[in-house]
Amino acid sequence: MSTRKLIAGNWKMNGLADSLVEAETLSRALIEEPANCRVALHPPATLIQRMVASLKGGPVELGGQDCQAEASGAFTGDISAEMLRDAGAHLVILGHSERRTLHHETDADVAAKVEAALRAGLEPLICVGETLIQHQAGDAVRVVVRQVKQSLPEALKGRRFAVAYEPVWAIGSGQTPSLAGIEELHIAIRETLETTFPGSGAPILYGGSVKADNAAEILGGKEVGGALVGGASLRAADFLPIVRAA
Ligand code: PGA
Repeated sequence: MSTRKLIAGNWKMNGLADSLVEAETLSRALIEEPANCRVALHPPATLIQRMVASLKGGPVELGGQDCQAEASGAFTGDISAEMLRDAGAHLVILGHSERRTLHHETDADVAAKVEAALRAGLEPLICVGETLIQHQAGDAVRVVVRQVKQSLPEALKGRRFAVAYEPVWAIGSGQTPSLAGIEELHIAIRETLETTFPGSGAPILYGGSVKADNAAEILGGKEVGGALVGGASLRAADFLPIVRAA
């Protein structure tokens, strides 16, 4: 099954009210000249509602960066999937390596959050990826296949979702694997998805130092169904050429 590529921008903990103009500039450019792919922005939760209002009806989809597995309750500081949906988000990034590392999230935690996202009607974008040590030990495929098997619950059957392969050592480092290295992991992820979710066609995004000058090559790779972009998604002038490369 072929699906349109998805180019998603992860703003991480960046963005105040004056950053809304970047999303508006991107949206205007895509109204003038529509993209060949789906385009999503994942601003900090504090900006979602305002971004929904300022981009209303535009081509840019909006998502959160994480959610709590429970719908409500005594979880100070957490945000539920239902709250993201209520704010106007349609997607949510789950299991990003910064959450796995800094907040000690396990594959089981990620799987519970995926179920929460589905419960709230959000499309989960589930991140996997090996560390530098695992990469150097030649363990990338084994680690990533295990993460895919354990972070993606059966509840995803028949639902729309995406997977993002993000080698931890490539995130924010300016380093990327070779195209052959990216393809090897994407093919391994596709084979793993096919055993549990046959014919899902879920796009497999690559993430980690995607920039305007490497986007076309990466996006042309076998089984590369899009990109998850951090630093280069903060400004429309940097993000738009990546969208145009898809
Ligand atoms: P980067 O981040 O594009 O800044 O490397 C990617 C990500 O963390 O999703």
